[in-house]
Amino acid sequence: TVLVVDYGAQYAQLIARRVRECHVYSEIVPSTMPVEEMLAKKPKAIILSGGPASVYADGAPQAPVQLFETGVPTLGICYGYQAMVQSLGGRVAETGRSEFGRTRIDVGTDTVLFNGLPAVQTVWMSHGDSVAAAPPGFRTTGSTESTPVAAMEDPGRGLYGVQFHPEVLHSEHGQAVLRHFLYNGAGCRPTWTMVNIVDEQVERIRAQVGGKRAVCGLSGGVDSAVAGALVQRAIGDRLTCVFVDHGLLRKGEAEQVEKDFVAATGAVLKVVDAQDRFLDALAGVGDPEEKRKIVGREFIRVFEQAAREVVAEGGQAGDDVEFLVQGTLYPDVVESGGGTGAANIKSHHNVGGLPEDLRFSLVEPLRELFKDEVRRVGEELGLPQEMVWRQPFPGPGLAIRIIGDITRERLDVLREADAIAREELSRAGLDRDIWQCPVVLLADVRSVGVQGDSRTYGHPVVLRPVSSEDAMTADWSRLPYDVLAAISNRITNEVREVNRVTLDVTSKPPGTIEWE
Ligand code: XMP
Repeated sequence: TVLVVDYGAQYAQLIARRVRECHVYSEIVPSTMPVEEMLAKKPKAIILSGGPASVYADGAPQAPVQLFETGVPTLGICYGYQAMVQSLGGRVAETGRSEFGRTRIDVGTDTVLFNGLPAVQTVWMSHGDSVAAAPPGFRTTGSTESTPVAAMEDPGRGLYGVQFHPEVLHSEHGQAVLRHFLYNGAGCRPTWTMVNIVDEQVERIRAQVGGKRAVCGLSGGVDSAVAGALVQRAIGDRLTCVFVDHGLLRKGEAEQVEKDFVAATGAVLKVVDAQDRFLDALAGVGDPEEKRKIVGREFIRVFEQAAREVVAEGGQAGDDVEFLVQGTLYPDVVESGGGTGAANIKSHHNVGGLPEDLRFSLVEPLRELFKDEVRRVGEELGLPQEMVWRQPFPGPGLAIRIIGDITRERLDVLREADAIAREELSRAGLDRDIWQCPVVLLADVRSVGVQGDSRTYGHPVVLRPVSSEDAMTADWSRLPYDVLAAISNRITNEVREVNRVTLDVTSKPPGTIEWE
């Protein structure tokens, strides 16, 4: 394990991911964690992240000197670097001058971190204070115009520091610097591979579930599919997957679960066709919050019923269903304080609302993984590409992409238009460039058009392509005009009810990604 000590910037997760991209397992811990507790995790290396504070600010998080006397190789980044310098007797100057963005750095190439890399490189900086003097025992290994000591190392003690952010892509050799630290500075070996992750999780799931049975709700999304596939691999037929078909998925997605997922994993699947039930419950409802509540409520009821049936099918004593599989990911765990055991259930249509007499213990095989790792595990498990690379899709599904009441006909119209947009985006090779592209049906709006020689009076759809890192903020994607043209032509030609295609050019904020 490599511990990434979080000094409060958004960079800790990125560092942890980059370490794992070097095939070394990493875990994020808070900077308030006592050093003994860190050591109890038997880290092979420690990385101190950047952070927003100045080391001189009141209450700024510290790096206690014991942290550097553990013998565990340690790399300080940005704030973590300055905290290291301060703690070991170097000098951090409040220059009042900040360095931000792409910066040129001169480095010593006969060093551990920069060995074999160009002597002049571009790195990404983001700091106010600067290191004016390295602590005793350190060699200065990099400098920039405004920061005389921009990198340092003391290989004898296993201590390294860089002012820049090696984890961001703008630092051209950043990943190599991390790799050098991990492999050469800390002696880590690249053993964190997809095959090992799968094997290790399978072992753990077996140990946890023992001879009992488990249920897993599949939503059509990546996380539940990968979690289900892992548990299936571990306990086989003692897992029952439940898929509630609420009729609000996109074209082909229900089939992906019912056919492709089962074919790829051999999982026992119980499909509940609840389309009519959801349509009835949603009939005449136009209010977005109301729609969300209804879908969430109905989902829990249907899932609960299905789970009861699975439990009842168990039969003999000792063969009870006791476990519920959840696709909780590492970012959710970190954001909720990193505690172990506590269920942190995020998605709105989860099963957190199950009644008291249906108590399950949770199996969360993705708790340690980032989204991109989950996708790679999914590939390793042989899940269909469309499922593994599926873009984010809201739990309430197409219900919140029809502006107006929901009917079966409107769902069909939107499904067709959405499928065309997805097809054209894939054809243009843009799937991994855009974050997602909701297609929204303005069901209560009509406009006049002409097709052939006749007047039409149809509905508009809105394309909402966005780029984003985490969906918290987003910008509208500048799709090539010819791709937009292809989508527009095909939708208006192939979907009779739609006679106009419009483009949403609003960022988030102020607009949210979804329209409802
Ligand atoms: P907004 O519209 O809030 O969406 O900008 C942010 C991201 O979240 C997705 N989304 C949801 N996901 N349940 C989900 O699991 C929901 O109720 C839900 N609502 C929005 C949305 O697609 C986008 O990726």
